[in-house]
Amino acid sequence: MTIPKDKLPRKNNLYFPTTDFKKKAWLKNTNIYKEAKKNPIRFWGKAAKELFWSRKWEKTFSHNPPYFHWFSGGKINITENALDRNLKERKNKVALIWEPEPFEEKERIFTYYQLFREVNRFANALKKLGVKKGDRVGIYLPMIPEIIISMLACARIGAIHAVVFSAFSSQALKVRLQDTQAKVLITADGYFRRGKVINLKQNADAALMGEPRHGREGIKETKVEKIIVVKRADNEVAWQENRDYWWNDLVKNEKNWCKPVEMESEDIQFILYTSGSTGKPKGIVHVCGGYTVQAYLTTKWIFDLKEDDIFWSTADIGWITGHTYSCYGPLLNGATFLIFEGSPDWPTPDRWCQIIEKYGVTIFYTAPTAIRMFAKQLGKIEKKFKFDTLRIIASVGEPIDESAWQWYFQEVGKEKCPLLDTWWQTETGGILITSLPGIGPFKAVFAGLPFPALKVDILDDTKRSLSAGRQGNLVILPPFAPGMLRGIYKNQEKYVETYWSQYGNKIYFTSDGAFKDKKGLIRIVGRVDDVIKVAGHRISTGELENAISRDKKVSECAVVGIPDEIKGEVPLTFVVLATGLKAGEEMKKEIIEDVRREIGPIALPKKVYFVKDLPKTRSAKIMRRILKRLWTKEELGDLSTLANPESVEDIKKIIQT
Ligand code: WT7
Repeated sequence: MTIPKDKLPRKNNLYFPTTDFKKKAWLKNTNIYKEAKKNPIRFWGKAAKELFWSRKWEKTFSHNPPYFHWFSGGKINITENALDRNLKERKNKVALIWEPEPFEEKERIFTYYQLFREVNRFANALKKLGVKKGDRVGIYLPMIPEIIISMLACARIGAIHAVVFSAFSSQALKVRLQDTQAKVLITADGYFRRGKVINLKQNADAALMGEPRHGREGIKETKVEKIIVVKRADNEVAWQENRDYWWNDLVKNEKNWCKPVEMESEDIQFILYTSGSTGKPKGIVHVCGGYTVQAYLTTKWIFDLKEDDIFWSTADIGWITGHTYSCYGPLLNGATFLIFEGSPDWPTPDRWCQIIEKYGVTIFYTAPTAIRMFAKQLGKIEKKFKFDTLRIIASVGEPIDESAWQWYFQEVGKEKCPLLDTWWQTETGGILITSLPGIGPFKAVFAGLPFPALKVDILDDTKRSLSAGRQGNLVILPPFAPGMLRGIYKNQEKYVETYWSQYGNKIYFTSDGAFKDKKGLIRIVGRVDDVIKVAGHRISTGELENAISRDKKVSECAVVGIPDEIKGEVPLTFVVLATGLKAGEEMKKEIIEDVRREIGPIALPKKVYFVKDLPKTRSAKIMRRILKRLWTKEELGDLSTLANPESVEDIKKIIQT
């Protein structure tokens, strides 16, 4: 293990890896970019050869716009690569470390063999419950080892997992279970969060049975027939015989090996829901072959994984970052990684620092919101925590600002660790833009260069490629990357419309604004659609508006994202109440409750304004841009297209008071 001793060399505003770091890095030379560029398809083919395939693919890449395929004809099982393959040389190596939230509780540690065994046992249990290849399984679990075991067990038998973030509400869970038509749901009795027990089973139960407030009490709302419950917090739960099963009872007598199902490259690996411009979440589809290859290679090269690394990515497994970098990626590389049940700043703001020290974490991956919060809570931490095991620090999920970047680089990385700002999306399956740790350069607030073999461009609205310094839309060009989405579950129309219509069916539209500098390093500016990033969580303003409009007391509403010092962005809500209703604190609380119930606590509006009217065009389109600018006090621009310009003055006054 190289513990970094020296500060990173700096040229102007660019940092580079130290010679010592370079010496041991997987990649240290820019030749890799040239080589990959010559033949991107061969590049990915070569990477795929490092994995185990039960049948070799016939065609590395094929393109029938807007559809594309990788490794067609090949057969693979991700768990055979993530688990079985590691038994030869890493049987007793630690795969997973789990740190519970309560201090008094002991961590749980799984070697590769132990994890392999648990996955096999649970896979057998799923089979006995009737789960087969192609079936969808809902996973609504907190950050406990069973979430990883569940995902892997599904993958082992070819079932498609759809993980739903445990802080999503029962309503949000319901919508996702309905869309997947999952027959089995895996959940837990509860879990610990900031010292409290969250009753997760209760949410799961509510998702399955209609709610009184929607007039559907007692009506079966989903196709779920069986719930598997992990006993985690020992809280009391309601129980339905012949529907609910304790995890431990199911695996008690399982001890056999479970044969991994051979999956076609383009079979679905998993579905993960994310927010788009509209109110309904989209089930992003990832497939077995391409996802496995990309998860494997990006984890290896970007985090420069070595045998004795301890990798900690703080994102919840309910998000794509968790899927790829807290489960599949590290396991495909035979690495040791850590997951943590609680909040990084609870019970004290330095809990995350203590965890880094306790396990000697070497690679730390988190989000700008967390970094800004840490910076605010801890300020200078130079003396208290030396962080002398860290060798790479990284960021993901939202644009990082200069001061957060500097704080992270200086206080956590001690100026000795490469700071990787990694750009990607649920849709891309893995990181696609970042500087590589052994190559650099690392430049504050710039994600850096596209991953080798990846072709991107920045286009204006007329499809012209923009030169350095000019901001436009980030797009991805063929052959894309093997781990990118293959569709939106059961909604190909939406797939075509969202990603392949802005610039035609051969150019993937990311919905992110970006520009590059003279060296080609890319700065991601943020979304150009109606998606906002609240503490790194992706939320569509349309989804929030739906949640609020469902309230009969609301006649109309509009949600916009406004800048927030810690969370990056937060939702601001403008509500027109139904006639005769009075605005007030009670009503405000009710609107906030609507969001909590329909989506969850991650998206609560910062402010609720009751207004008489919303600014609209003559075709009745709500002008959200104006609402946002009224708050940020920017120039409002041309108001002549408005059907009701008087609404603007009104709202201005309301915001001011
Ligand atoms: C959106 C995707 C990718 C894992 C977590 C988020 C924003 C992501 C960065 C970054 C600036 C970023 C983009 C993107 N984003 N990484 N390094 N710098 N913005 O996945 O929830 O699907 O969100 O997150 O706007 O489109 P996601």
